[in-house]
This record gives sequence, structure tokens and C-alpha cells, in this order.
Amino acid sequence: MNIAGGRFVITGGASLIGSHVADRLLAEGAREVVLLDNFALGTPQAVAHLDGDARVRLVRGDILRINELYDAFAGADGVFAVAGFLTLPLSQNPPLGLAVNVEGQVNTFEACRYAGVNKVVFSSSIAAYGEPGDGLIDESAPANLASYQPGSMLYSCTKLIGEALCKLYSAKHGVDAVALRYATVYGERQHYRGVNALHIIQSYDRIMRGEPPVLPGDGSEVHDYIHVADVARANVMAMASEVTGEVFNVVTGVETTVKRIAEIVLAITGSDLQPEYADDANAVKATSSPSLKLSREKIARMLGWEPELSVEEGIRRLIDWRKTCAD
Ligand SMILES: NC(=O)c1ccc[n+]([C@@H]2O[C@H](COP(=O)([O-])OP(=O)(O)OC[C@H]3O[C@@H](n4cnc5c(N)ncnc54)[C@H](O)[C@@H]3O)[C@@H](O)[C@H]2O)c1
Repeated sequence: MNIAGGRFVITGGASLIGSHVADRLLAEGAREVVLLDNFALGTPQAVAHLDGDARVRLVRGDILRINELYDAFAGADGVFAVAGFLTLPLSQNPPLGLAVNVEGQVNTFEACRYAGVNKVVFSSSIAAYGEPGDGLIDESAPANLASYQPGSMLYSCTKLIGEALCKLYSAKHGVDAVALRYATVYGERQHYRGVNALHIIQSYDRIMRGEPPVLPGDGSEVHDYIHVADVARANVMAMASEVTGEVFNVVTGVETTVKRIAEIVLAITGSDLQPEYADDANAVKATSSPSLKLSREKIARMLGWEPELSVEEGIRRLIDWRKTCAD
């Protein structure tokens, strides 16, 4: 599919990821980008930088109301199914979070089928794997959910349902669809809803108040931190490709400890504070593994995508953006 000249809808368009997908589509010459959001979690500020761009339309719409999708999807070439409740908001409001992540995705696919949309790119998560083992995790790895915390388990199940919808509508209903399993996404316009990216922005906030970053355990917990611009590029490449019915990791393949993240934030801010270590027994967690080896071989081979930003450069960008918010 050609991105240049195309018309695209992003459900959950006022999100961290949706706003960057919009930026990328516009940079590649999309004719129209519709940002559909009910602002349950995101805010118009996330896309305020697009005000005045005649190609962008911000539509207040709810993926739980299918009639609102029929209107927005009419004439669209592709839909980015980004709207969803992350583990934290889903744990806080299970009835709404489950409805949005399951019924909302069903509505999205049904409305795409009805409107004749060619392709859906669905925002999934590496949470679909559950607790990671020690080995390299590729897309054929089974879900290991038995020891997951309940909120994470629910979130994971909703993403697996979304992925199954991709395969079903691709195979049976003529809607091409690809699911992208993101690792821990962070970057400019960062929010406080991502269970694993939270400590980046919290560490920064604490340092700005003259307080030390507080890290869980001994700081050796690792995550795979992927910058949102790399995630947005993966979305647009997935939309442009002919590939359908597939699931892809969107990961760096690099393990970074939470201690290393704090060191990066301390270095960028020029602070000599030392991290403190404390566990919050009530914290919602996705995974706290000392090992997380995720493969990006499949997406490199089939879509030609590779991450471009190191975690050092990505956090610098996040902090530069954050400073402009404080001004
Ligand atoms: N941020 C991450 O680290 C990460 C990792 C893996 C997967 N994901 C997935 O990527 C997607 C976007 O993540 P994000 O961090 O940008 O999230 P976010 O919380 O910033 O965005 C979710 C958006 O969906 C909107 N929304 C919620 N309910 C809606 C409804 N009923 N109708 C229309 N819009 C609705 C919210 O208002 C919000 O703007 C989510 O589906 C999430 O599960 C995110």
C-alpha cells in the first residue's frame, strides 16, 4: 500500500504511540490522517503540535460505539488499531479496560470489514509472551502466563485476542492485518500509564525535585526499551507492506537494567544523586525478570525494520521534550 496520498485512521490517536504514528504518516506524505479518540486516557495536548495541519482531523469517537467507527473509517485505506488500556489502567478499571481491549477491537475489525478498509495494524505487546524464560524469544514462543500478576494476565489475554482477530479477519473477511508486539515504549509525550516505562519519567521528576531515583529490588531487573519513533516507523512499514496475518516483535533486542536507565537520566540531568532501592509490594508489575532476550529477526527479514535509536539517545529526546513542558 502507498502511504503517500493515502487516507488513514488511528484509533486512540491522542496517545503516545498514535501521535507518533500520525507524525510518521504525515512525514511520508499521507493525504489524510484521522485521529479518533474518546480521550478516556489520552488528551488533545498529545496531538496539539498537529493543530493547523489541513491533512489532520481530530474526531471524538469511541471504539465501543461501532456507529462512530463506520463514519470515521469510510474511505480509509488503512486503520492503525492503537486504542487500548495498558496494564495499569486496565487493572484500575477492569470492566472498561476489558471492554475496550476486546469488544472495542472486535468493533474496529467489523467496521473495517464493513467500510472496505484494506489493512489494519494492531498494537499488541510482548506481554503476550507472559513471563520470559532465559532463551531468545521469537514469535513462535508460547505464552507463559501461569505466574503473571492478574492485571498483566488480563492485559496479555486481551492482546492475544486482538492478534487472533487479525488472523481471523485476514483469513476470512478480506481485511489484511498485522499485529505488532511492542516492548517497553518510551519517548516524547511520555505518559504515566506504562508499567515499565514509568520509572524513567518518575526518576526524572524526582531528580528535578532534588530527590534520588527509587528503583525496585537491586536495580538488576531488565527491560527492552524501544523508542516511540522506532515503533511508529514499524507501524507505517507494516501498513505499507503486503504482509498479512503475521505477528512481529517490535523490540531492540537489547536488555537494559532499571539501574542503567537511572544512570542515564542522572547523567543527562547532570545530577550526582545516588539511586535508592525499595520494593512496593502493591505495585502492578508486568515482569521483573533479570533476563529478557527478544528476537527482532522476523521483522527485519519480512518488513526490513530495524530500530534506529539507542536508549541513551531516546531518553535524551524524552528529557528534552519534558523540559519544554515545564517551561
Ligand atoms: N506504551 C507501551 O509501552 C506499550 C507497549 C505495548 C503495547 N502498547 C499498546 O499500544 C497502544 C498505545 O499505547 P500508548 O502507550 O500510546 O497508550 P495511551 O494510554 O497513551 O493510549 C491509549 C489511547 O486510547 C484511547 N482510548 C481508550 N479507550 C478508547 C475508546 N473506547 N475509544 C477511543 N479511544 C480510546 C485513550 O484515550 C488513549 O489516547 C495500546 O493499545 C497499548 O496496549 C503500548
